[in-house]
Amino acid sequence: MKRVKARANANIALIKYWGKRDKELFLPYNSSLSMTLDTLYTVSEVEFTDGDRDIFILNDEEADEKERLKISKFIDLFRDLAKEKKFVKVNSKNYFPTAAGLASSASGYAALATGLNRLFSLNLERKDLSKLARRGSGSATRSIFGGIVEWKKGEDSDTSYAEALEVDWDLSMLIVLVDSKKKAISSRSAMEETIRTSPYYPAWVKQAEKDLCAMKKAVKEKNFKEVGEIAEANAMRMHASMLASFPPIMYFKEESLKAMDIVRGLRSEKIEAYYTMDAGPNVKVLCQSKDLQKIIDRFKKYFPEERLIPSSMGEGARVIEETL
Ligand code: PMV
Repeated sequence: MKRVKARANANIALIKYWGKRDKELFLPYNSSLSMTLDTLYTVSEVEFTDGDRDIFILNDEEADEKERLKISKFIDLFRDLAKEKKFVKVNSKNYFPTAAGLASSASGYAALATGLNRLFSLNLERKDLSKLARRGSGSATRSIFGGIVEWKKGEDSDTSYAEALEVDWDLSMLIVLVDSKKKAISSRSAMEETIRTSPYYPAWVKQAEKDLCAMKKAVKEKNFKEVGEIAEANAMRMHASMLASFPPIMYFKEESLKAMDIVRGLRSEKIEAYYTMDAGPNVKVLCQSKDLQKIIDRFKKYFPEERLIPSSMGEGARVIEETL
């Protein structure tokens, strides 16, 4: 029986995606840019099953019906393209804490899309695969590619995809785990509430496009200071739009603020580090790889070592094993 194992890495946005203009097609209001990591990833194993429905196992446990139906709907996209009716058994493992603002949905759907592409013998190229991954989770669009990746918001479903930026740069990220428990409000609902109730949301969209332009220029010039400053400001602008929602959406915890303070302290000592934060309280510290150890050493004074996850730039999604 044909069985495919695919791996995709997580990515952390330096210019955030926040808000869908089309909920069914996952079309974003703004384009975004991220860095693919190499230490946080999902391995997804897929095979056909003779049963009467799809099966979804996540981290060795059968997922609940709601999750299973979500995955089934996603597999439908591939079944339709392949004109195939067979059901699929999906066995996915996240090699990091699930749903802690560490974007496990990004690596999850990117790995699944990559596995299904091979299982259904679709032979889609990465660009088209990123459009399909997008239908599972917006941030998954970017995890199809490695390095620094832009997700172009596009005009419609066919023009909203990711692309890797051509840049060879040794960047790293230190993930500071503030809380690895499941987050209180999902990014999906938080985005919807922000769009619906935050008077700052239109300002966010406008600014995010400006930030992206400036970021792409800074990446091209390999100007790390610029990249860091823009990424930090952009993340805080996204959180500002959430904070202005009603009721307010706040992912900050005391320790998130502490981590940000440490980063500012490092900078005052001329160690170049910048923070970013997503839909969860964990803080990610962006740096050049030459400075990573110094940054870890400083964080070790305030956080237990097991809560510090260093990562360098990772590759794009790929099939890692195939049994025919
Ligand atoms: O696609 P989701 O539901 O994982 O949303 C991602 C939202 C952020 O992580 C906050 C930003 C981003 O661009 O990854």
